[in-house]
Amino acid sequence: MYVDSPDIEVIETIQELQKKLNRNERKNTTVGFVPTMGYLHEGHLSLVKHAKEQNDIVVMSIFVNPAQFGPGEDFESYPRDRERDIRLANEAGVDILFIPTVDEMYPADGGVRILPAKQAHELCGASRPGHFDGVLKVVLKLFNIVDPDRSYFGMKDAQQLAIIETFVRDFNLRTVIVRVPIVREEDGLAKSSRNVNLTPSERTEAASIYRALQIGSEMFAAGEIPEAIKQRVSDFIVSNSSGMIDYVEFLTYPGLDPVTDGAQEVILACAVKFSSTRLIDNIIMSTKDGTYVPNDDEQ
Ligand code: PAJ
Repeated sequence: MYVDSPDIEVIETIQELQKKLNRNERKNTTVGFVPTMGYLHEGHLSLVKHAKEQNDIVVMSIFVNPAQFGPGEDFESYPRDRERDIRLANEAGVDILFIPTVDEMYPADGGVRILPAKQAHELCGASRPGHFDGVLKVVLKLFNIVDPDRSYFGMKDAQQLAIIETFVRDFNLRTVIVRVPIVREEDGLAKSSRNVNLTPSERTEAASIYRALQIGSEMFAAGEIPEAIKQRVSDFIVSNSSGMIDYVEFLTYPGLDPVTDGAQEVILACAVKFSSTRLIDNIIMSTKDGTYVPNDDEQ
């Protein structure tokens, strides 16, 4: 049943997917799961690559989740291309692609909410209230539907990853969360489905985000204080782009607490708003012998 098939299987209903992935039938076959909102790029495909290396079959989901978009955010304009996604997922070796409709995922809303960990108050949680409630809601539904052995998440969304790790631990969910490094464009811009909504000049300017984070990480290695680093990162982005700073923050990772002397890993994260698109990026640094070593997937 689970022999390597050259063709991807596209499934649209929960019932069909659950039947296919039923634990009694899959026995010892391991399932790696890659949840996405589609408009696939190399970041998503890197998650697939990791999943393929560690599991017998790979399931990807594509679902632009309305529950994680606030009023006035880009749910409508979020890029979508079903045929292209199916082709790319197939080429990358995804075995099963789950593409439910909104009605399939949310036929009725009973109103039950998941309150994320306190990490959700920081960074994107502050500017996107309710965002992580919506993420955890869909992620729990997907975990229950797919029942994956391992689930793959990108460090591009480091806060999301930290919140999901806490969620899985607090609720004893049975999947293992695997962290995958950030994949970047040649000029350093983190790959994102939203990059396509930048104007050509914004696309060029957006490379300054990662350059600013790199400057910040060098300053940290040189022993500069967080306030000075945040200011410099912010100034660099403002003077090299038309983007508006949503936040530039410097916190422990994955706890997202203020940085103190004992911190093992720290995150320098920012969100920048362009005319119609908000971009996020981060660098995680581990503290070793007093020096700070970036663990980002630099190219
Ligand atoms: P989406 O933005 O489509 O991202 C899906 C997964 O791909 C996430 O784990 C994200 O961190 C990862 N990813 C995106 N860009 C990446 C990059 N440049 N390098 C490495 N990984 C990258 O995140 C979501 O969707 C949604 O919130 C979701 C978890 C699917 C819940 O709706």
